[in-house]
Amino acid sequence: MIPARERLIVALDVDSEKEAERLLDALKGAIQIFKIGSQPFTAFGPKIVDLVHKKGCKVFLDLKYHDTPDTVARAAREATRLGVFMFNVHSLGGMEMMKKCLEASSETAEKEGLQRPKILAVTLLTSITPEILQNEIGIKGKGVEDDVRRLAALAAEAHLDGVVSSPQEIRVIREARGKGFLIVTPGVRPAGSQMDDQKRISAPKEAIKAGADYIVVGRPIIMAKDPAKAAEEIIKEMEG
Ligand code: C5P
Repeated sequence: MIPARERLIVALDVDSEKEAERLLDALKGAIQIFKIGSQPFTAFGPKIVDLVHKKGCKVFLDLKYHDTPDTVARAAREATRLGVFMFNVHSLGGMEMMKKCLEASSETAEKEGLQRPKILAVTLLTSITPEILQNEIGIKGKGVEDDVRRLAALAAEAHLDGVVSSPQEIRVIREARGKGFLIVTPGVRPAGSQMDDQKRISAPKEAIKAGADYIVVGRPIIMAKDPAKAAEEIIKEMEG
């Protein structure tokens, strides 16, 4: 069982490298994994990944690759070469894309003597409502829960390591996929904190209880006056 401390991923959603460095130093010893999403990666490129590694921490590269299978395979090679701990693709890219991604990452890791990153699939973004699914995207399924279950099954069939899911769907995925299939969950808010733009939130303890392996928290930690204290409080809640 992974200790609570190692299951808390902090979203490094920052506007400057200086701010990234300040947070990495403030959270030294408390946090081991930092999530780098499309905004900081677009602004600073791979050097933000190197910065996290230089501080002795791991990276979850959250770029949600969604492109033709060969293009995603090439991106997967580069993510593997960056030495990230974890990265993700979008399950709506389909089975061939996910399979080629895994193959390319495994092959690169083996040939170049690297550790293969854990590869996750985003099922449905938490911002996607049933109305958007039906009326805009044109997916007329049996509902979000059923779609998430099906997309998680597709990721498992492609032999990916797990999924990124909203707190609402953790239980359904855990029940369907069993142990060993990673579930990473954003949208987590500790007791008494602001919701920000998150709508369907869960407390850290509930997310872990429902079966999440890792939880992702951004603003409640990175905007806190004392980020280390905020992180420690969440870790305590997770342990509880
Ligand atoms: O600040 P907050 O805790 O809301 O940050 C959560 C992080 O997780 C952000 O980087 C956000 O983009 C990301 N995320 C999310 N919901 C998803 C996927 C990713 O909140 N469905």
